[in-house]
Amino acid sequence: MSTTKKIFGFMLLMITTFTVLLSCCSATVYKVGDSDGWTAKDGIYRHWAEGKEFHVGDSLVFEYDRNFNDVTQVSGALELEYCDSSSPKAVYNTGHDVVALKEPGYHHFMSSNHSQCVSGQRLEVLVVHDPSLPTPPPLPRKILPLGKIYTVGDSKGWNVYDSDFYNKWSEEKEFHVGDSLLFKYNNEVNNVLEISGDLEFKACDPTSPVAVHKTGHDLVRLTEPGVHYFISSKTGHCEAGLKLRVVVSVSKLSPIDRLIRWLRTLIPHHH
Ligand SMILES: *[C@@H]1O[C@H](CO)[C@@H](O)[C@H](O)[C@H]1NC(C)=O
Repeated sequence: MSTTKKIFGFMLLMITTFTVLLSCCSATVYKVGDSDGWTAKDGIYRHWAEGKEFHVGDSLVFEYDRNFNDVTQVSGALELEYCDSSSPKAVYNTGHDVVALKEPGYHHFMSSNHSQCVSGQRLEVLVVHDPSLPTPPPLPRKILPLGKIYTVGDSKGWNVYDSDFYNKWSEEKEFHVGDSLLFKYNNEVNNVLEISGDLEFKACDPTSPVAVHKTGHDLVRLTEPGVHYFISSKTGHCEAGLKLRVVVSVSKLSPIDRLIRWLRTLIPHHH
């Protein structure tokens, strides 16, 4: 018994060290604009980004007043130049947004408040994949049992079916903080908006989303307990049933309990 405990302890220590090492050295978190934050000031973001090298896995933190501002990610330099936020890739508006840079290439951010954008609230960053760093192994999600990934609609994906389809789909499941929803769809005809309230959900009102996803393969992590609402903003889709309500509860098991439970499954039992 005590030997088993020692083995647990040792493995836990190793895994913790490994995780800490990974997170300490391979990813940097940048506060956009440093002490200025995310605001309308001419030229500061170009200057801010110039001295830095962004790597896949790094994150940007945007801090601003959410009452008249947001972070709108757009797909190209042209949209940035013209402050065109009409077809965003993603919209963040918590006032403290952490955006992970998951892919190499240019990433474009601006305020969807046109006058703010025009007066300089826009940012372009070039993200490189550093070949000298090994791609971090998919540790947290695949190996550690820290959360389930649910493909919304299972094999049917995120599409218009009958009006009760997603209702039934979510009612049969129990969602916990740390789980993720994977929305799969054709991004030419569909999208995913997270909205904040029951009224908007009932009315299929897409006008003030909390987040907008449109890659066609969107992984949305459920980080907070409570009710979460997702709709499509494409004409008629939500009304026809393309809307999802999920109730997220706090898991009864702490991450450490889950870890221990998982470790137990690795150790052969002798009776
Ligand atoms: C846009 O930003 C300005 C400040 O530059 C603010 O006065 C205005 O209310 C904002 N507009 C919207 C629609 O939030």
